[in-house]
Amino acid sequence: MNKRNIIIDCDPGIDDVIAISLAIANEDKLNILGISTVAGNQSIEKVTNNALKLVSFFDKNIKVAQGSKCPLIREKTVAKYVHGDTGMGNYELPPSKFSLYSNNAITFLRDTIINADGKVTLVPIGPLTNIALLIKTFPEVVDKIELLSIMGGATIGGNRTSCAEFNVWADPEAARIVFDSNIPIVMSGLNITHQTGLDKNDISNLLNSQGAVSHMVGEILDFYLKGDHVNGGTFAPIHDACSIMYLIHPEIYEYKHMEVKVDCSEGLSRGNTVTDVRDWVTYDESYPKVLLQVNSEKFKELLIEYIYKLDRMFER
Ligand code: RIB
Ligand code: CA
Repeated sequence: MNKRNIIIDCDPGIDDVIAISLAIANEDKLNILGISTVAGNQSIEKVTNNALKLVSFFDKNIKVAQGSKCPLIREKTVAKYVHGDTGMGNYELPPSKFSLYSNNAITFLRDTIINADGKVTLVPIGPLTNIALLIKTFPEVVDKIELLSIMGGATIGGNRTSCAEFNVWADPEAARIVFDSNIPIVMSGLNITHQTGLDKNDISNLLNSQGAVSHMVGEILDFYLKGDHVNGGTFAPIHDACSIMYLIHPEIYEYKHMEVKVDCSEGLSRGNTVTDVRDWVTYDESYPKVLLQVNSEKFKELLIEYIYKLDRMFER
């Protein structure tokens, strides 16, 4: 089976780390062409440093390109309250043995997509600033982008505010450019990611594991559990993992194509993704594929299986 070319655009970030790890566990299905970073959970310097340390932790010299330091228009904010001062909770990965491949993620994305053998799937799991700049600066890449598997938005609710998800809230203008681009999109919003994660018992098992990868995941999720207040801190929704899990196991999800409009106002509804969930309205396949339901138990079973697979792949 041909492997899917992917580039992960991220702001690691605890759940970004798990998404990247999940992709590495599935390199038999995914050809990771690179990682681009964007300011979001933490500053661009910190998220880029985390990405470099993570690929070094796995001894994978995956190209890392540093991207946007701030949103297109809005003030930069970070999610220290969820991901900690380093962006990795209290966990300290060893220094990276690899150096930054590029300090310009936009030209890195353009060159990598244009030169790729076949189309490329982008996996944006942070604010969409880089992706918006890419398609506005180099529109010639659009025809070579197979899919945007985006973690962002929500059909209902929010986490940064009562009605906006952090990645879209952080840079709503970028999100509007991307959602209005007509590039095929799969949207993993909070409505689905709050169904996909690990509970306190799962995390305790990982914490007590002797495996290098499973223990690291346990440590960062133990911190995360205290910051992302879903179910009163008893459940860690691993938002970003959803955008990778969809690519390797689409069969565990149910979806509907629907229009998604991003609110770019200044007020309370800033960053709201208005999704047309009216069940009597149908949209064709050119509209975003919005994930609505997931087999949560199967998601958890697969995620834990892949985490322990990484222990075996990278036994110290
Ligand atoms: O709202 C969740 C999203 O915001 C995730 O991508 C998390 O890493 C943060 O970036
Ligand atoms: Ca993220």
